[in-house]
Amino acid sequence: MDLSLKVWRQAGPDAVGGFKSYEAKGISPEASFLEMLDDVNEHLNEAGEDPIAFDHDCREGICGMCGVMINGDPHGPQSGTATCQLHMRKFNDGDSITIEPWRASSMPVIRDLIVDRSAFDRIIEAGGYISINTGAAPDANIIAVPKEAAEAAMDAASCIGCAACVAACPNSAANLFTAAKIQHLNLLPQGQPERFTRTVAMVETMEEYFGSCTNHGECESACPKNISIDFIAWMNRDYVKAQFKTFQKTGQ
Ligand code: FES
Repeated sequence: MDLSLKVWRQAGPDAVGGFKSYEAKGISPEASFLEMLDDVNEHLNEAGEDPIAFDHDCREGICGMCGVMINGDPHGPQSGTATCQLHMRKFNDGDSITIEPWRASSMPVIRDLIVDRSAFDRIIEAGGYISINTGAAPDANIIAVPKEAAEAAMDAASCIGCAACVAACPNSAANLFTAAKIQHLNLLPQGQPERFTRTVAMVETMEEYFGSCTNHGECESACPKNISIDFIAWMNRDYVKAQFKTFQKTGQ
């Protein structure tokens, strides 16, 4: 396949960026999107030009490091698929492809297609740890977990933190990410001791960095793990419950 690429190039966080055009020739339809970029970079290296900087690690849809806007869609045209799992057979010979970094002021560009996602780390840090009683290892299954709760928690835990939800949201809200990270603990018996303090800390940290959710639902469509916006409703409910509990204790 031969493709025409328009790629966002930006030398650093304070540099002025812009699109540059490249030709990707002889790309196998079986190549992944990142392998196609590797091929373009090999040619740039041979020509003595700076390769295109892009994030990646596992290339198996697990780590959440990859992620770019492809023709305006986070992670490209195939739903439920991270950029590293997208294959070139989803495109046609002769296509033009525009590749941009995530666009959100809370995630500034570091270089080319790489953005700074450390605002997500601040939310996770605010969540702290769950209480664990140390001592002899308990018997397996000693804490019964209802099947529905276990399955919902596993769905939430499938969030890879890629930030496609933020990139897709017109408000750059991080509610889907935060809800997934809260609910995979809040839904389980082991997550109950810190359930409400964790919810308040993570939601309020999220609000420092990101816009507010106004129920567009774009996050759910962009999520490579198909995480449901139902988790946002669960998170909001836990946040309201936490406010009542504080009111009951302090009268404020
Ligand atoms: S590189 Fe790890 S999810 Fe894509």
